[in-house]
Amino acid sequence: MKIAVLGGDGFIGWPTCLHLSDAGHDVHIIDNLSRRWIDTELGVQSLTPMDSIQERTRIWYQETGRRIHFHLIDLASDYEIFKGWLRKERPDAIVHFAEQRAAPYSMKSDRHKNYTVNNNVNATHNVLNALVETGVDAHLVHLGTMGVYGYSTVGAAIPEGYLPVGIDTMSGRRRSRKSSIPPILARSTT
Ligand SMILES: NC(=O)c1ccc[n+]([C@@H]2O[C@H](COP(=O)([O-])OP(=O)(O)OC[C@H]3O[C@@H](n4cnc5c(N)ncnc54)[C@H](O)[C@@H]3O)[C@@H](O)[C@H]2O)c1
Repeated sequence: MKIAVLGGDGFIGWPTCLHLSDAGHDVHIIDNLSRRWIDTELGVQSLTPMDSIQERTRIWYQETGRRIHFHLIDLASDYEIFKGWLRKERPDAIVHFAEQRAAPYSMKSDRHKNYTVNNNVNATHNVLNALVETGVDAHLVHLGTMGVYGYSTVGAAIPEGYLPVGIDTMSGRRRSRKSSIPPILARSTT
C-alpha cells in the first residue's frame, strides 16, 4: 500500500515509518519539522541523538534498499500544496500524528497557546477537507492526545492518569469504569 505518515519525522511517526516500510509499504512522510524548530527555540535536544530526516531516510535506504520519501509540508498552512500532493499521489492510507504534542509548551504564553490550537485543529481540518475535495478514498487513522478542562468548577485539579467513572446502564444499573485523562484518542475513518 502507499501510506502517508503525517508527522513522520516525530517520536512515534519515525518508528511507524520504519515498521511500515519494513513490511513492504510505499511510505511517504509529510512533516514541517516543527518539532526540531521547537527544540531549537527551547535550547534543548533529544535525549537520543537524532539525524536530519534526509540522513535518516538515506541510512534506511542504504541498510534495506527501501525508500521512504519525505515531503516538507506544513499541514496547518500549506493546504493547497497538501491537496495537490494528495491528488497526485493518491495514498491508500494516511496515519496522522502531526500535532504540537506538549501540554507544557502550549501553556508557556498566549502565543504558544494560540500556536498549538491553530496548528493542531487546522492541520486535522485541512487533512479532512483535502480528502473530501480530492475524492481520495484513503483510510485515515488519527492519533493524538487531548486535554479536557473544567475540573476547577468542582474544586479539583486537572487529573492525570486514570479516573474512576460510574456509568448508568439502560437497565438502571451503575457500572464502574476507568477513563484515561487526558483521553488518548485513536480515530479511524474511511
Ligand atoms: N509520545 C507519546 O508518548 C504519546 C503518547 C500518546 C499520544 N501521543 C500523541 O501522538 C501524537 C504524536 O506524538 P509524538 O510524540 O510523535 O510527537 P512529535 O512532536 O515527536 O511528532 C509530531 C510530528 O508532527 C510534526 N508536525 C507538527 N505540526 C505539523 C504540521 N502543522 N504540519 C506537518 N507536520 C507537523 C512535527 O514536526 C513532528 O515531527 C501527538 O498528538 C501526541 O500528543 C504521544
